[in-house]
Amino acid sequence: MTFRIAPSILSADFSQLGEEVGAVIAAGADLIHFDVMDNHFVPNLTIGPMVCEAVRPHSKRVDGSKIPIDVHLMVKPVDRIVPDFAKAGADIISFHPEASDHIDRTLALIRENGCKAGLVFNPATPLSYLDHVMDKVDLILIMSVNPGFGGQKFIPSALAKLAEAKKRITAEVAKSGREIWLEVDGGVKTENIADIARAGADTFVAGSAIFGQADYLATISAMRGELAKARV
Ligand code: DX5
Ligand code: ZN
Repeated sequence: MTFRIAPSILSADFSQLGEEVGAVIAAGADLIHFDVMDNHFVPNLTIGPMVCEAVRPHSKRVDGSKIPIDVHLMVKPVDRIVPDFAKAGADIISFHPEASDHIDRTLALIRENGCKAGLVFNPATPLSYLDHVMDKVDLILIMSVNPGFGGQKFIPSALAKLAEAKKRITAEVAKSGREIWLEVDGGVKTENIADIARAGADTFVAGSAIFGQADYLATISAMRGELAKARV
């Protein structure tokens, strides 16, 4: 089982975003989570492809190896902006099913643009959206808060939903042998990360829990320590 930690730059210091990205990578980040909000699908406004392009050269380790940029689109409509993010350096692009009129088409579009495709589930959104598209999904993202803001409290019902999503992934892997990541986003902290891992998540977004601490290395190391406990 590979666990990945994805700091959300939503809680970073935007006046020095490049340095912040470098700092969390030096502290052990596996992905950079990039939250895109449009003040329409969600009640907040953040960053777009230009910022993704600016972050891209910073999203690598000191040895030059690339750290994937994990773009979480909270925008409606979705399709128009997908190629722009692919060109700007996104590696994974995820969207909410409610934000696309043609989910199958949007998933295909993301892959055609050379990125991994993810589907995101709000707390009240049913997993049945996966029924006919599992073969087109590379990542399932379970929201454990209502999207729009960092620093919210983890909604406990996300644990059962993660377990249900994990079952679907296990069935798909048995059928196709293809890997699908199970990501969780919202209110993830050192204190609850082990329980979340036990529910089936393998990829953990954490914004305020990492950027809200002075020592990113200590925080990410503590999270890894907890994840090691969940493994046994
Ligand atoms: C919320 C965003 C999250 C957010 C998480 O809409 O999708 O990625 O940054 O922040 P924390 O970890 O502080 O809950
Ligand atoms: Zn997010």
